[in-house]
Amino acid sequence: MRRKSLSCRAPGASVLVSLIAAGLSLVGSPLPGAETISTNRFLGTATCSSSGCHGGGGPTQNQFLVWSLRDVHAQRPAATLTTARSRQIADALQINDPAADLRCTTCHAPLQAVPIASRGETFSAGESVSCESCHGPAENWLRSHTRPDYTHADRTGAGMRDLKNLYVRANTCVACHQTVVPALLQAGHPELIFELDGQSVAQPKHWRESASGSGAQMWFVGQAVALRELSWQLAGEPASNEKLAARWSALLWLLQKLDGLGPEFSTLSGCSAEPAGQNLRVTLTACDELAKRVAGLSWTDEMSRRALATLSATADDFQRPGLAMNYQARRAERLVLALDRLLSSRRNLPPNREVDANLNRLFRLAQSLPEFNALAFAEALNAFSKSLSP
Ligand code: HEC
Ligand code: HEC
Ligand code: HEC
Repeated sequence: MRRKSLSCRAPGASVLVSLIAAGLSLVGSPLPGAETISTNRFLGTATCSSSGCHGGGGPTQNQFLVWSLRDVHAQRPAATLTTARSRQIADALQINDPAADLRCTTCHAPLQAVPIASRGETFSAGESVSCESCHGPAENWLRSHTRPDYTHADRTGAGMRDLKNLYVRANTCVACHQTVVPALLQAGHPELIFELDGQSVAQPKHWRESASGSGAQMWFVGQAVALRELSWQLAGEPASNEKLAARWSALLWLLQKLDGLGPEFSTLSGCSAEPAGQNLRVTLTACDELAKRVAGLSWTDEMSRRALATLSATADDFQRPGLAMNYQARRAERLVLALDRLLSSRRNLPPNREVDANLNRLFRLAQSLPEFNALAFAEALNAFSKSLSP
């Protein structure tokens, strides 16, 4: 993968959503995107892995093999909790055993939290992020989902999560890939940045993506969901949190640039720049609506082209005095991810080394928050923009 430099690290996961991803029930669900709790039992990967089902060799039946042999979700999340680095984080938080503490297992070993009553006979709490962590507990659909007359709607009606829907997919991944509480960050947990498209590309595919799908659309839905979650997290912070506010503000800036990208888009124009109070709730609701809408429309290459042109013409925003440097740096961080994903979704364009070199330069400049140089970034952005449309 190119540009490994700026990895997908930003905050962690709305604990609410991640508990739901893990199959836990919680009282009340104030957050849009959180689904109603399924009462299906979890059956474990042993029920998916036979060679006649998803453990076969052919491309339509190899999901278990792809997951168990190539997908980091199969082992690494739980294994990470036994490393020295986890020990360090845990010590700082006075956590006795990170591999058994909900503050860590919520995302790294989500099945541990499945209540005893929801565990089927072949369930195993030690499976890291398993099939059912993403697809939902299988009890009600396991037997029927292979019937030829069983439709996609039948399956989702029986509790299989509708991951073909990008909004549902984004909600599933963001649960573990964004919201880390401040105490964990302070203790040394990496910051997580949710970016659905890049992270979907990085996950070894055990499915065929529909031909009409666009990476840019996935990127957009993911960012709208990310801003919804940041709004939710920020609204719940007891004191002001500068770091989180800067990240929130950067993403709002980015998405507002793309307001009205297509006729079916809903707007974020009602959200003000203030990272507090009622405005966070307004933003939360508006982002949820936007994510849902964009997930449901057919994305065109013209939208990607316009988004790329609009975002690469924002150099002036980095040359305005008055905006704190950490806010500018966070904008740059989001912006380069956006340019990268929009550009790769337009790969039917002839390869252009100059564009690639300019984008690499932007990544390098955005990489280090404390030393961010807004003027140098603005210049590089202008160069990128020129090379896009010489
Ligand atoms: C139940 C929690 C959970 C869910 C749901 C989840 N992940 Fe993950 N994922 C993790 C954890 C934890 C790791 C980190 C593993 C480690 O390094 O310990 C991870 C790692 C990854 C990585 C590797 C990151 C790297 O830097 O190498 C990718 C890519 C990824 N996830 C993509 C996705 C996508 C796409 C989705 C949604 C379809 C998703 N994940 C859903 C918990 C989850
Ligand atoms: C909100 C979900 C979430 C929670 C809660 C969480 N993590 Fe993570 N953690 C992740 C994800 C996702 C990654 C992978 C980041 C990436 O690679 O992009 C990660 C990465 C890590 C890493 C770095 C792994 C590496 O080698 O790069 C360590 C160590 C870690 N987590 C330990 C912990 C510990 C210890 C706890 C509890 C105190 C914890 N995590 C709680 C989601 C979470
Ligand atoms: C980290 C999340 C995640 C995990 C873990 C996961 N999947 Fe998936 N799976 C997805 C996504 C996203 C899709 C694509 C959406 C779709 O086609 O439904 C998908 C698609 C599929 C499909 C549809 C294939 C197609 O081409 O239509 C099957 C079957 C499947 N997964 C089975 C499994 C099995 C079996 C496991 C465990 C061995 C598993 N998945 C683990 C996220 C996950």
